[in-house]
Amino acid sequence: MSDISKLESDLLAAIAAAKDEAALEAIRVSALGKKGSVSELLKTLGGMSPDARKAQGPIINALRDTVAEAIATKKAALADAALDARLATERVDVTLPIRPVPQGTIHPVSQVLDEVTAIFADLGFAIAEGPDIEFDDYNFTKLNIPPDHPARQMHDTFYMAKQKDGSSHVLRTHTSPVQVRTMLKQKPPIRIISPGRTYRVDSDATHSPMFHQYEGLVVDEGSTLANLKWVLEEFYKAFFEVDSVELRARPSFFPFTEPSVEWDLRCDRSVPGKITFGTGNDWLELAGSGMVNPRVLDMCGIDSTKYQGFAFGGGLDRLAMLKYGIPDIRPFFESDLRWLRHYGFSAFDLPTLDGGLSR
Ligand code: PHE
Repeated sequence: MSDISKLESDLLAAIAAAKDEAALEAIRVSALGKKGSVSELLKTLGGMSPDARKAQGPIINALRDTVAEAIATKKAALADAALDARLATERVDVTLPIRPVPQGTIHPVSQVLDEVTAIFADLGFAIAEGPDIEFDDYNFTKLNIPPDHPARQMHDTFYMAKQKDGSSHVLRTHTSPVQVRTMLKQKPPIRIISPGRTYRVDSDATHSPMFHQYEGLVVDEGSTLANLKWVLEEFYKAFFEVDSVELRARPSFFPFTEPSVEWDLRCDRSVPGKITFGTGNDWLELAGSGMVNPRVLDMCGIDSTKYQGFAFGGGLDRLAMLKYGIPDIRPFFESDLRWLRHYGFSAFDLPTLDGGLSR
């Protein structure tokens, strides 16, 4: 092997073996630098006879080109490998559980509110909302409870100071004024569900001065009590996550419905501290309801000779207490972190009918 081809194979082997860019640069300087082995060879061309130069010139120049090209190729390969290594160390495993464990929880009332709205949305109901501070007129008068009517005493009302223009406001005592608001601005068919805060002067283990109700209203040409019963059955089955429920109707009185019906749900309370729905020999009162009083339809601008409807309402806090075994309503509104951690729900589990209401 000639000296030149040995030099070439030595250099190519060294280039191939270079571990990093610094090692490669050292090889480049030793071969192609000012005093490098290949550069020295190139310098010898000047002292050669024309014939010798003609023979050696291309060989030495080819050596220089081969070495330079091998160095450039290796340099690119090293840069790629360095990038790959960096990306590998910086990779984020998105499947790892989040740390630290999330601290905040969803309040049982918010959870139940989401569950209730998911169920009624699936039944084709729209969500309607109204203000906490309500016109006396909407909370009472347009619901067929005129001023000084004895039925007002059924509600322990927080009255607000009278306005200069003579109008008076209350903290709404139920979600039923949302019925009025809806009928005043929307024509039938109406199908709404309205969850929200309500207020009454009352406080003990099962009553809080601020609590939550949900209200349902359906107005159409042919809505009946039978439709109402079916809607409630579907709702309770989905909400309590059981295959069947049994409802018992009791006659009742609300000025804004005629006839008025209260509904009890069959349940089993034979095991202390536990309640199961769908079986058993006990009954639990769950909702007030009835056919919307034609007077209410008329006062809200809906032709009661053409349309009829049903309405129902109940307590959201009460649903939460029953479903999640919470014995006392007062801690619901005390913001005690220990209570919230115990009864709260993960923010990542949104209630849906196909994904599961509660976990
Ligand atoms: N608003 C009534 C209450 O608070 C419940 C109800 C709603 C009754 C709708 C009939 C129809 O007790």
